[in-house]
Amino acid sequence: MSSDLEPVALKHINAAAASIANDGSSLDEETRKKTLNAVRELVKSLEKPFEVLWRYSYRLSSQRMAMRVGLDMGLYDVLVKADGKPVKAQELADACKAEKLFTVRIMRVLTAAGFVDEVGVETYAANELTKLMAEDVTDGVVKGSYDMPARVQVVMHNYFRERGYKSPVDPVDGPMQWTLNTKLAYFEYVQQDPELFKAFTQLMTRWRGLSKHWTEWYPVQANILDGASTNAEEIIMVDMGGDRGHDLEIFLKRFPSTQGRLVLQDLPMTIATVPHLAPAIKTTVHDFFTPQPVKGARVYFMHIILHDWPDDKVRDIFRQIIPAMRPGYSKLLLNEIVLPDQKCPADFAAADINMMNLLAGMERSRAQWIELVESVGLKVIAVHTSPFMENSEGVVEAMLEA
Ligand SMILES: C[S@@+](CC[C@H](N)C(=O)[O-])C[C@H]1O[C@@H](n2cnc3c(N)ncnc32)[C@H](O)[C@@H]1O
Repeated sequence: MSSDLEPVALKHINAAAASIANDGSSLDEETRKKTLNAVRELVKSLEKPFEVLWRYSYRLSSQRMAMRVGLDMGLYDVLVKADGKPVKAQELADACKAEKLFTVRIMRVLTAAGFVDEVGVETYAANELTKLMAEDVTDGVVKGSYDMPARVQVVMHNYFRERGYKSPVDPVDGPMQWTLNTKLAYFEYVQQDPELFKAFTQLMTRWRGLSKHWTEWYPVQANILDGASTNAEEIIMVDMGGDRGHDLEIFLKRFPSTQGRLVLQDLPMTIATVPHLAPAIKTTVHDFFTPQPVKGARVYFMHIILHDWPDDKVRDIFRQIIPAMRPGYSKLLLNEIVLPDQKCPADFAAADINMMNLLAGMERSRAQWIELVESVGLKVIAVHTSPFMENSEGVVEAMLEA
């Protein structure tokens, strides 16, 4: 592997190693991330090509399998409940109602992968990762991101061999439907399975917890409120596909002067479950594939909606909003992942593949967003990126020129 490890990266690695060795103090978050990236580059430069191939084609699949089996066995819970005391294999097996030999074999994989510490022969102790694995929400995160998506991923090479090497565009006839032999769209499929639905909800909650709300880094005052109409009858923001209104609730808390001028829209099934938010937030049923009924709002907002859809469907959604927009005044704000045009972080590249497989959807790069938005006659004013989440969450801001 070629090494493009910069001297500055080596400096981070050395400084972190010295800091940890000297006083064991934990690194500040920025240094930790820089050091981690530097170490990853170092690993890339040290690993031989066959070692990389072996890791991806062989080792990772058994590690994922053992992680998942361990969750069902409840072995992370047993180790965490031991409260720091080492647990022998027989004790662990008994507590999990499992065979000792089987437990030892699974634990070999999990200790090598760092999920659990091996503190003696066939003796184990919980570490920080074990504690995470034992948290309630982890069950949903793993089931939502692994169980069904992994079934689709392992046979995708067959799907693309049969259908051609191109991005799927039909949300009800894509890789997921091909694999699971269903005609249901992803969300319909998830909703008819209570365990999968719970897992998906937990996964989304955990995902949201990783990011900073857009109002913390997007200039709301300068770009929305300054220059907004002072007429109390006119709407400041419409949140399309806003689910239960959490985005608008946060917005209202930070900008209480917008009370009564915010509109939440979603499908009937979702709106039926929304708590009574009025009069601060008007709650209405609206399908975003039909004409936008709120005319001349300052902002038409969508949060993680459009990555669910292929380009043609996104254009259909835009064409329903455009007639409602007041040129030179109304803004379309898309709070989505914005992939960098180069050197996409691995997690976000994986998110794109997930969207492709499950929904015929897509995570889009900065250039792809601009091209898509401008293809329907809107003008992109700016693409704002979050200083958090490795700069991959953003707000695409567009207008109709006056
Ligand atoms: C991934 S969730 C995002 C929800 C919310 N914006 C958020 O950030 O958490 C997608 C939302 O779009 C809604 N949705 C799906 N199809 C829709 C449609 N045709 N019209 C309006 N809302 C729709 C769903 O009900 C769901 O609330």
